[in-house]
Amino acid sequence: MKNVRIGMIGFGNVGQGFVQVIAQKRELLRGEYGINPLITAISDKVKGSLRNDDGLDLGLLQKVPVSFADFETNEIVGWDAPEMIAESRSDVILELSIANYETGEPALSYMTQALNAGKSVITSNKGPIALSYRSLNGLAQKNGVGLGIEGTVMSGTPAIRVGKELLYSAGITAVRGIFNGTCNYILSEMKSGRSFEEALSLAQKLGFAEADPTLDISGMDTAMKIAILSEVLFGERIVPTEIPVTGISDLTTEDIREAADQKCVRKLIGTIQTTNDRPELSVKPVLLPFNDPLAQINGAMNAIQFETDFLGQVTLIGPGAGRLETADGLIQDLISLFREK
Ligand SMILES: NC(=O)c1ccc[n+]([C@@H]2O[C@H](COP(=O)([O-])OP(=O)(O)OC[C@H]3O[C@@H](n4cnc5c(N)ncnc54)[C@H](OP(=O)(O)O)[C@@H]3O)[C@@H](O)[C@H]2O)c1
Repeated sequence: MKNVRIGMIGFGNVGQGFVQVIAQKRELLRGEYGINPLITAISDKVKGSLRNDDGLDLGLLQKVPVSFADFETNEIVGWDAPEMIAESRSDVILELSIANYETGEPALSYMTQALNAGKSVITSNKGPIALSYRSLNGLAQKNGVGLGIEGTVMSGTPAIRVGKELLYSAGITAVRGIFNGTCNYILSEMKSGRSFEEALSLAQKLGFAEADPTLDISGMDTAMKIAILSEVLFGERIVPTEIPVTGISDLTTEDIREAADQKCVRKLIGTIQTTNDRPELSVKPVLLPFNDPLAQINGAMNAIQFETDFLGQVTLIGPGAGRLETADGLIQDLISLFREK
């Protein structure tokens, strides 16, 4: 069995979810895959940093503190993220800080530093991957390490792995999907007669939408995800800010009612269409007939539909967010990069 030493940047929802999933799945990882996961360091902007080369106590970590200083432990160190990458004994860095879709920073620099130091990187952070997947992947290959990005699109629903590994030989010609649970939840509620504002406020109350939901409802979150898919599935780098994007904030209950009169629903759809072998990307609210598989995806659920040469349409439905759901995407990457059997 192989010790896999993990350094974490960011200890928010996903970071805490990861600890919970590792605690639950440790025996499975050891027995089925020969992986003994050890969290050897964490650096978080607010909570501080911890280090133990033999592995931090997962039970203690699950008593999520406001600050690591609340733990009575001699494992506290004063490391920011770059110091943690440089100083910790770690084989893989989990980058779980916040997404910046304009520059990818500071996460992009952290990932670059880790890969250059010969450490693998696993992340659910869309920003740096949407902007710089190719160069980061090149760096990983040059240094003989791995880059895991499953959690960046549809959390733990394996959209990337299914497209890149399982359907690639079937010849993917187009992709379309519902990639933002907040928007889909709002549109589903509007179908039941709520106004946009009422639906958004309910989504915030139930924890689906952020306090600042701009990235979601503007369509930019979906743009980042299809930019990642474009690069990974079609080898074409398209910067998210160059994608034509229309969000959902201008939709009225009248628009939704008119759609229903035509036996249709409105869904925020991210599309990648290949024309002359070149992918064209767009994000917009689309009118879908009731019998379209994507029309039937309600609430915060996500879905991706691959158009292929040999299999026709293949649709994958699953959650697109959530702390445990996203943590599971990280675990899938951990297994893929480090399995011994
Ligand atoms: N939550 C989901 O369902 C989900 C799904 C898919 C992908 N993701 C992505 O996964 C990543 C983590 O999401 P999350 O929900 O865990 O976010 P979160 O709850 O906001 O946690 C992020 C944590 O990282 C810390 N942080 C920010 N900048 C940092 C830095 N430079 N160095 C060290 N720590 C830093 C934050 O501290 P502050 O609070 O002080 O900023 C916070 O504690 C994000 O990129 C997100 O877009 C999340």
